[in-house]
Amino acid sequence: MTKKTIRKAACLKQVIEYYKHSHAKKEFVPGKSLVQYAGRVYNEKDMSAMVSAVLDFWLTYGEYAMQFEKLFARFHGVENAILTNSGSSANLLAISALLARNLKNGLNPQDEVITPALTFPTTVAPIVQNNLVPVFLDCEVETLNIDVTYLKKALSPRTKAVCIPHTLGNPCNMAAITDFCRKHHLFLIEDTCDALGSKYGKKLVGTFGDLGTFSFYPAHHITLGEGGAVITANPQLAQVLRCLRDWGRTCSTHCTSCRYADKRDGHCAFRFSQKGSHAMPRDYDKRYVFSYIGYNLKPLDIQAALGIEQLKKFPSFKRKRIDNFNSLYKGLLRYREFLILPRNERHAEPVWFAFPITVRKNKWFNRKELVLFLERKKIETRMIFAGNVLRQPGFRHIRHRSIGVLKNSDYVMEQSFFIGVYPGLGDTQIKYILEQFNQFFKEKALA
Ligand SMILES: Cc1ncc(COP(=O)(O)O)c(C=O)c1O
Repeated sequence: MTKKTIRKAACLKQVIEYYKHSHAKKEFVPGKSLVQYAGRVYNEKDMSAMVSAVLDFWLTYGEYAMQFEKLFARFHGVENAILTNSGSSANLLAISALLARNLKNGLNPQDEVITPALTFPTTVAPIVQNNLVPVFLDCEVETLNIDVTYLKKALSPRTKAVCIPHTLGNPCNMAAITDFCRKHHLFLIEDTCDALGSKYGKKLVGTFGDLGTFSFYPAHHITLGEGGAVITANPQLAQVLRCLRDWGRTCSTHCTSCRYADKRDGHCAFRFSQKGSHAMPRDYDKRYVFSYIGYNLKPLDIQAALGIEQLKKFPSFKRKRIDNFNSLYKGLLRYREFLILPRNERHAEPVWFAFPITVRKNKWFNRKELVLFLERKKIETRMIFAGNVLRQPGFRHIRHRSIGVLKNSDYVMEQSFFIGVYPGLGDTQIKYILEQFNQFFKEKALA
């Protein structure tokens, strides 16, 4: 062992001590402790992995990021995972890649993308930012997903893609959606930001479409602090995605897929020997060739170091999310007369992001009363993201088409909310949540 390795090990030992003393789990005090809708679930291994990356001080996209990409791709059984600095960036890259020059049947400005009105803002934003036209469909109230019965009606000669979020981890009707896309030669983007590990017909969501996007914000199934990823089985799309993420440049010394990459020192034998356009000097460094108008959406290596540890924990996170969801479902079933509980597709196996609840319109209470009651009891609630996004101030005036009236999207915006199922919630917290629902209905003389 070198002196450097010994010193590093000593630092990391201190980090573990620090974790044990400063991040010890606090006792849950009913009514006093916050029952979060989501949160970071981590241990000393996550903390020391991050510190280890800090001590290496590479900082930007590097070895950890490359390793995370490999593991994440392998988890999904695809060739390519492209790590980004957020799920929103992943969506931006995914949509932007479809407009790349040279892409067979690629999109052009003014083309249409079918998507649900009940959505997250940055699922729609990249469609608008790329001068494409979103075509909004209504959702189903119980699944909160796009209502596939409207797909055919939405079709026009300009339709080129379908972009669907699996809302709160609940897989969409992938049989209908993939059939539709295949039949009409449409690209399919799955916003899987809330749905890591969810399956439809035994297949992981995110792998049905041309592109699957993910978020690693702390509220999500695993966290990198901030972070996101795009997965694809299509090598051409993968190359465009990397390019767009990395300033639009064609070549990177970290490009593992490049057939010219010299794995020993990361330098390319063709670095100073241009074969391309005469507009570029022949000896121009390949690292400064920009084939696309790109962004810089790269993550830090420190984030990726955390991601590697989080991915190891995912099987236990998944079990806990499912258990918490099932316990809440069982406990709330008795209030079905007043609350619409979530439903999944017949072939779906969701790993729920959260537990959605829709208050049926009734004469005894409304959503606001129930939400305020829960918040007063220290149980966090959230709305279903943007609701009907067309009612949001930033989206009211966007160029779009809507298919029919978006009445379910409006209904969900007015009547629904969600509470947590994240693995940081133990049986005690779930029991407490159910007790508070019972209390609410008792006070309304409805229990
Ligand atoms: C469906 C969906 N898409 C995209 C995002 C954006 O992800 P990020 O917060 O990492 O930018 C989120 C975030 O929660 C989301 O829920």
